Amino acid sequence: MENNQALHGALFKDLETVITEKKDQRDPLIEVLHSAQEIFGYLPAEVQKFVSEKLDIPLAQVYGVVTFYNFFSMKPRGKHVINVCTGTACYVKGAPRLIQMLKEELGIEMGETTEDKLFTLTSVRCVGACSLAPVIVIGDETYGRIDSRKKLKKIIDSYRE
Ligand code: FES
Repeated sequence: MENNQALHGALFKDLETVITEKKDQRDPLIEVLHSAQEIFGYLPAEVQKFVSEKLDIPLAQVYGVVTFYNFFSMKPRGKHVINVCTGTACYVKGAPRLIQMLKEELGIEMGETTEDKLFTLTSVRCVGACSLAPVIVIGDETYGRIDSRKKLKKIIDSYRE
């Protein structure tokens, strides 16, 4: 527990350094939140409060930004975030079915993280790879034309190794 607290303190110190560096920029909030999410892995209420106080921005505004953008998360995320594209082309080409297969494969709902903290399942708007629809993005990798459970399982399994 003490170790946890020390670790926590160190993370807040890192965040404070980032805030000091960026606070005089024109619109520092989004950049600071990005860094905060990199440091903590997600943006719990206490981190949002810290950012709000240090940047002197109302907490409601910080919360508004965190909840508006899909790439910010208020819950801990898994090691790999699986983003299912739910843009029009992917939707038409089977994104709903793909989501259903992913839920079954991982045993979680959208927005949730597997118990082993390996995967988080979430959705994104069009990622610009419509010709490959339906598409999922994991980290920097885009996987397209996922039209069978077998194909999907092969991709997921490669992250389990
Ligand atoms: S709609 Fe999915 S990549 Fe464009």
